[in-house]
Amino acid sequence: MALTLTLAKSTAQKTDKKSKNACQVILMDEQGTALAPLSDELSADVAAFSDASQFKGKLAKSALRYATAEQSAMLLVGIGERHKLNGNALQKIAKVIYSQLADLTKNATLWLGGILQAEQFGQLTLALMNQGYCFEKYKSKASDKPTLSHIVIHATNAQDDLQAVLDFNNAINQGQSLARDLANEPPNVCYPAYLAEQAQVLAAMYPDLLTVKVVGEKDMEKLGMNCFLAVSRGSEREGQLVVMEYNGQAAKSGKKAKKTNLTNPIAILGKGITFDTGGISLKPSAGMGEMKFDMGGAAAVLGMVKALCEARLPLQVVGAMACAENMPSGRATRPGDIVTAMNGKTVEILNTDAEGRLVLCDSLVYLQRYQPKVMLDMATLTGAMVVALGSVRTGVFSNDEDVIFDLEQASDSAYDRIWHMPLDEDYQEQLNSNMADMQNIGGMPAGSITAACFLSRFVDDIPWAHMDIAGTAWQTGKEPSGTGRPVPLLMHYLQRQALAAK
Ligand code: BES
Ligand code: MN
Ligand code: ZN
Repeated sequence: MALTLTLAKSTAQKTDKKSKNACQVILMDEQGTALAPLSDELSADVAAFSDASQFKGKLAKSALRYATAEQSAMLLVGIGERHKLNGNALQKIAKVIYSQLADLTKNATLWLGGILQAEQFGQLTLALMNQGYCFEKYKSKASDKPTLSHIVIHATNAQDDLQAVLDFNNAINQGQSLARDLANEPPNVCYPAYLAEQAQVLAAMYPDLLTVKVVGEKDMEKLGMNCFLAVSRGSEREGQLVVMEYNGQAAKSGKKAKKTNLTNPIAILGKGITFDTGGISLKPSAGMGEMKFDMGGAAAVLGMVKALCEARLPLQVVGAMACAENMPSGRATRPGDIVTAMNGKTVEILNTDAEGRLVLCDSLVYLQRYQPKVMLDMATLTGAMVVALGSVRTGVFSNDEDVIFDLEQASDSAYDRIWHMPLDEDYQEQLNSNMADMQNIGGMPAGSITAACFLSRFVDDIPWAHMDIAGTAWQTGKEPSGTGRPVPLLMHYLQRQALAAK
């Protein structure tokens, strides 16, 4: 069950009857000051409880009081020093609030006062919404589901601003949750045609905004997308390039999406390898199951499209998913095979496990038919990216400083962090082949960069950025799960583009 957040109807400090049964959540700094103006009654209650529990307000520490017949439950949450409150702290705070309350109560009331800027309010509320995510579709017995389902927020900032932030976050959360669901689906369910079907489902939900085209293997043969086909041919499942045309401008002008062609849209592509065995260059078996997350880029694109439809941003966006299954078989590509990409360039495939770049390169060429004003791609592309940046930041490679600037701004406001990686000409040499125009691997050094270099060879003179989300699209450890990143980053980026176009 999702967690809903609403703003309190009035900024009044008094709590009504219903919210009296809710757990009162109060943020406190290291001075022991409650951050919100509270009613005298609540204020005295907070003071008594924080004294009794010797609560110090240290960041992400908390004190919990259970409800009694006379008193409501209360949770004090420390924010540390006020001037140090940043995105990282807000995520910790969201985690503490959720973990303390998940099984305790259905309703909570969160007192923020005016401490958070609108942007920080956005980061805290999105983090809370994300905490409420769970994936239990395949559990035959329902587990003890968290009961927390609704938080009413009291904040003293301009209410219109906060409501707009909350609405936008609701759109993001719907998209991000969808992306997480898709990534979590097992690979026997989520294969290329399944992702195509999910795109069709969205198009049926938002017929005024969205149309879907599926480029199948027959079409790819005609188009000469032989790099893509070199990956999908080893599998029984058909490879598909799923193209979603979002026309938020047509919706605004009252025209049907179907009738209008996109002009210079923003093109966004995701790697959709629904399972990556490595192909003939087979991966080791330990941990191979995690390679169901190799469609995290495609999941983020579909999630972003969902969020776009919910937010109805006045933009033209083409979102595409390069979907295939990388399998070994008698039909699979052999290391050493040479194929010709859609743009005529020849590629010597020396490692069939470097398959992401192969489905992406032809898809990038295909998308340039739209004459996009900017093109982004996201891919769980290299293990080397995980080595370099771990699960904290997404590595971004680009041929354009302005795109980097815009993405960094979006990254800051969404708190969906990125890091600018290099793309110097010098690295290109590692892709030289003595047989063809290039080979698909660049050796051990700078593996993420040479992968990005490979993609760059398929992008003509347009602003483009590649995001390697191998470390950030899913979390490892005890609870492996899709994270839905970088849906928040993309949505903040697109929101900025919509504002700039006004
Ligand atoms: N999907 C993997 C990259 C990956 C590895 C993502 C680990 C997340 C965690 C990709 O297709 C791959 O196999 N890349 C190879 C490239 C190499 C053969 C040049 C890699 O990183 O080892
Ligand atoms: Mn691979
Ligand atoms: Zn892969």
